[in-house]
Amino acid sequence: MLNLSVLTDPAFCPHSLNKFASVMACGNGYMGIRAAHEEDYTQQTRGMYLAGLYHRAGRNETSELVNLPDVMGIDIELDGNPFSLMSGECLSWQRELAFANGELTRSVVWRTPAGKRYRLESRRFASLDQLPLAALQLSITPLDEAGHILLKTGIDATQTNSGRQHLDEASVRVFDEHVMQGVYETQDRTSEVVITASCRLSMLSESCFTAKNRQILNHHALNVATGDTVTLEKVIWVTHRRDRALSQATFARNALAELTACATTGYTSLLERSARAWDRVWRDCRLTVTSSAPEDQIAMDYAVWHLTAMTPAHDERCSIAAKGLTGEGYKGHVFWDTEIFLLPFHLFSRPDVARGLLRYRWLNLSGAREKARRNGWPGALFPWESAASGQEETPEFAAINIRTGMRQKVASALAEHHIVADIAWAVVAYWQATQDDAFMRNEGLTLLIETATFWMGRATEANGRLEIHDVIGPDEYTEHVNNNAYTNYLAWHNVASAVAFMARFGREDPAFSQNATRFLTRLWLPRADEDGVIPQDDTFLSKPVIDLSRYKAHAGKQTILLDYSRAEVNEMQILKQADVVMLNYLLPERFTREQCAANLAFYEPRTIHDSSLSKAIHGIVAARCGDIASAYAFWRDGVAIDLGSDPHSSDEGIHAAATGAIWSGVVQGFAGLQVMEGELHLAPQLPAHWQTLAFPLRWRNARLRVAFDGETLNLDTSEPVTLTLWGKRIQVSGQQKFAAADFLTSVNGTATREGGDDA
Ligand code: BGC
Repeated sequence: MLNLSVLTDPAFCPHSLNKFASVMACGNGYMGIRAAHEEDYTQQTRGMYLAGLYHRAGRNETSELVNLPDVMGIDIELDGNPFSLMSGECLSWQRELAFANGELTRSVVWRTPAGKRYRLESRRFASLDQLPLAALQLSITPLDEAGHILLKTGIDATQTNSGRQHLDEASVRVFDEHVMQGVYETQDRTSEVVITASCRLSMLSESCFTAKNRQILNHHALNVATGDTVTLEKVIWVTHRRDRALSQATFARNALAELTACATTGYTSLLERSARAWDRVWRDCRLTVTSSAPEDQIAMDYAVWHLTAMTPAHDERCSIAAKGLTGEGYKGHVFWDTEIFLLPFHLFSRPDVARGLLRYRWLNLSGAREKARRNGWPGALFPWESAASGQEETPEFAAINIRTGMRQKVASALAEHHIVADIAWAVVAYWQATQDDAFMRNEGLTLLIETATFWMGRATEANGRLEIHDVIGPDEYTEHVNNNAYTNYLAWHNVASAVAFMARFGREDPAFSQNATRFLTRLWLPRADEDGVIPQDDTFLSKPVIDLSRYKAHAGKQTILLDYSRAEVNEMQILKQADVVMLNYLLPERFTREQCAANLAFYEPRTIHDSSLSKAIHGIVAARCGDIASAYAFWRDGVAIDLGSDPHSSDEGIHAAATGAIWSGVVQGFAGLQVMEGELHLAPQLPAHWQTLAFPLRWRNARLRVAFDGETLNLDTSEPVTLTLWGKRIQVSGQQKFAAADFLTSVNGTATREGGDDA
């Protein structure tokens, strides 16, 4: 097994329970289980979610990722004392998520209020080998005197999404005197969930089952001698379905058979199998760094771990939620985060997974066509937020203003149309990295044509040219503007790509071509001023500037909205997140390094970074401009979004996009990976903290290994590859070494290690 890092929960703290429940959540892309403790705490939110299992509870609600019945909770009573670290004394504590095999472990020595010491050890995982499988073990050892132990665990369907019940109990049963099963249906009867769980104790106990109040529970009572250890092993199988091909009884019986086979195999072997599946992920995807800051490697392992745990690689009917499968933030909806922040990792590590994510959009085209049609536009207008069906899921109103009692409308669904071009950008990026003609000929071209058709209908004749009016760019603090640069350039790229790929695949259509040519020649692309600064939109530069330092000091908390209304923020030069800088990042061939640097210098002081999608992108553009010290500082700030000291930063789930950006910051920032005009570019530059960086990379049909020590780049490729290294085109086959000095002295104007390096 590879020598991977572990993520540590340093101490029991009631304030950070939910943060660690999110960042240490177990998952396998099919299900996610929050790392809530076995015992209850009033502040603690339990959660188990299945990718794609959404339910809309009422006509005025949007779909939510359903919080399933809990299987991880265990009521533990030691000599009549309920085990809780809020009472007695916690004498020792160790809690870790091991990235190598995905196992979450905790070891605690607890002194009961009556003064007796117990050791409690628990471990759990969600299997990457058998996706519906999760398992846990709890071991208890009385350390001072024999102890009387009561344990109660089962399937607890009292869970809700913040009070909202989505499931009705269809049946609960006990089979063979030790297997519990609950069958649940979403209240709209579209989905069925079957949870099957078996518990075994390593010692004889008095045992019984109860089923009432939406809980089916297995109770155990036993005495354990001093120094002896009793272990409870629980194996859980969670399935769901939307189709009704089988009868409910057969579906449930099949689940029972699967569970029984797993329970016979036992925790240790099941974990080994899952570890082997994780091993394959690490070999395909792991970034390795030698850094004087050990937390850098942890951050990289954390990112790859969650990027795998959040991605439904098994099912292209679902995509990645903004919080992955770790919490209920944003109701589990899918945003542009997937195509722009998460897809690059998959594209360059496991391209078939990237393909599945694009097929999710393709499968949901009818919802996008319908949204465009309802708004009077042709083509496909993808929803700003989507869930299972592909229809718009953005809530109509945001949180209530408690002073006025009024609800603020959410404008994103009405105007944040750049998602359409973002999806098209991802289609092109996928083809460039894979040259998967079969995909492009079918799903890819359809997506490109439908999205391009939308933009051609969306543009307006104004000022003697075509303009795009009334949009919101990535910067959501600036609403309803005309000619947002990001949107216009990406829309142009979308239409140009549709034309290019239609020609490439012999799908020209004269009417489309004519329309497209008109669009491409007449669409207004906001121009850079003499310094290189591109106006974010028509009015942005004429708005007043205010000092944002106090808000930037609390980036991510949206504190500006405590002092100003959204309408007021809209009338100032204030960015929530990267916008023009985002454009510089996505279309590198369109902008010079000087223009990128100018936009970074102009917009960064105006950007609060109130979105977790902001800093990492600034970091990548800074790295491309040669400012490695700032790039590293931005990257570390991006890492801190989930892994920093704020105890509440991730209560409602991890920030999936920021996790993708940890990977991107390394590969697209420090390793300088860019795709320009369809060509692969690398230009590694290491931050002063790092001595080496290595990672695997998929490009077309080649599997490469890239390793850089600050001076020499080692490339090892399974197939010959042509790429541009530090600005110079080279061919690589097999294993070859390249000295940075040979390139950097001969190339002017491309990446230079000296340029702003923090060494
Ligand atoms: C950001 C969006 C993002 C969404 C989900 C918002 O705060 O402004 O860009 O898509 O969060 O992550």
